[in-house]
Amino acid sequence: MIVLRRLQSVNISRHLQNISVLRLDKFHTNYILRSEFKDVMKIEINGKVLQFPYVWLRDNCQCEKCFHSSAKSRIIDWSKFDLNVQPKNVNQSDNSVQVIWNDGHVSDFKLSWLNYRSFVKESQKNYTNTLYKPAKITWHGDDFDKVFSKHDYNEIVHSDNALYDWLHKFSIYGVALIQNTPDSETAVDGIVDRIGFTKKTHYGEKFVVQHVANTSNVAYLSNNLQMHTDLPYYEYCPGVNLLHCLVQTASKGGENLLSDCHYTVAYMKEKYPNEYKLLTETEVEWSDVGCENGNEFYKLYRSPVICLDKHSQVIRINFSIPQRGSHFPGPIESVKPWYVAHSLFYELNEKFSARFKTKAGDILVFDNIRLLHGRNMYEDKNNNVRKLIGAYLDWDEIYSRLRCLKVKLDPEDGI
Ligand code: OGA
Ligand code: ZN
Ligand code: ZN
Repeated sequence: MIVLRRLQSVNISRHLQNISVLRLDKFHTNYILRSEFKDVMKIEINGKVLQFPYVWLRDNCQCEKCFHSSAKSRIIDWSKFDLNVQPKNVNQSDNSVQVIWNDGHVSDFKLSWLNYRSFVKESQKNYTNTLYKPAKITWHGDDFDKVFSKHDYNEIVHSDNALYDWLHKFSIYGVALIQNTPDSETAVDGIVDRIGFTKKTHYGEKFVVQHVANTSNVAYLSNNLQMHTDLPYYEYCPGVNLLHCLVQTASKGGENLLSDCHYTVAYMKEKYPNEYKLLTETEVEWSDVGCENGNEFYKLYRSPVICLDKHSQVIRINFSIPQRGSHFPGPIESVKPWYVAHSLFYELNEKFSARFKTKAGDILVFDNIRLLHGRNMYEDKNNNVRKLIGAYLDWDEIYSRLRCLKVKLDPEDGI
C-alpha cells in the first residue's frame, strides 16, 4: 500500500499508473506486514531443523517445467507465479522431500541440495567464502614473504590442482608469482588460456613494457614509476595484471613496489577518518588521451580513489598520478583537503609496501584494483634492455575458473 501511494503521487502518465495498480493488486495481501516467517517449511536435515520459505521453494522447483536442466536455468512463467503459494502436502524420505502445492504442482528436492542452500547464517557464510569468493586476507609489506606464493608455469599449464592452488591463493592475497616461464613473448598466453581470455585495452591484447624515448605512456620509461593502479580511467577496469619478465635489468633498480591498499584503507579508516572519508567520497577524473597503434583514444572516468560497496568494503582502488586529469569535478573547498588525503594515502602505501625484483622467467601477478604497484628507476643500456610482456585479466573470469575447478576437484561442492 505504501508503494502504491508513493507511485500515485509521482507525476507519471495515467497509462503507467494503471499498469502499476494492476501489478500491485497481486501484492494486496499486506505481504510485507504479514509475518514472513509464517510461510516457511521446516525440514529436518542431518539432525538439524532448517527453514525454507514457501515462495523460495516454489521459485526453485527443479522439475522440468520449472527448470531447464541442460541450460541450468529457471524457466518459470513469472506472470503466473503465486507469491502466496502454500503446500498442500509434504512427504519426506531419507534423501528427499516432496511438496505438493495448493495448485497441484509437485516439487521434489534432494535434502543435500537444500542443505547446501540453508538460510542459516553460518552456512551462508561458508558458501560465500568457499564457492562465491574466497575471503581476502590483508597484509603489510613486512609480511610479504609469507603471503607471496610461488608457482610453477608448467604445473599450472598441466595440472588443475596447481591451477586451483595458484588462483585460490592469489584471490586471497591479491599477489602471486609464476616461475620458470618459457622465454617467449607469447608464453603468458599459456597461463591466460588456462583461465579464459585476456581483457583487451587500447594498449592491445598484450603490451611490451620497455624503455621507449618518445613514449605514449610514462610506464615505458626507465624512470621511477610511482605507485599506481593501471587504467583507472576505465569504467570496466581490468582487475588483474600479469607482467612476464623476459629480461630484467642487471643494473640497480627495476624492482617492483607492491602494497595492499585494503591494509592501507583499514589503517586510514581507524587513524585518519576524515581523510579516509574524503578519499571514499570525492570523485576524481581519471584520464588517458592519445594514440596507440594508429588508434586514437580519449578515456575519462570519474570515481573516488577508494570505492566502497554497501557493506563499506573496498571494491576498487583508483590511483595514478600521471593518469589523473586536471579537471576536478568536486567543489572548490574540497580541493586542498582532498590533496592532503591523497598525499597521506600515497605516503602510507609507500610505507606499507614490499619490494621485489622479478627475474627472467617470472610472471608477477597482482590484483590491479586492490594493490598499488610501482617500479623504481633503472638504467637502460644497449647491452642490457629490461623487457616485460604485460596482459590483463578480469576477476569475473578468474572467479569463474576457480568455481569450475572447485566443483570438478571436489564434486561435493556446487551441488
Ligand atoms: C606498468 C608498470 C611495472 C614494471 O607498465 O604500468 O607498472 O615493472 N610496469 O615496469
Ligand atoms: Zn516445478
Ligand atoms: Zn602499472
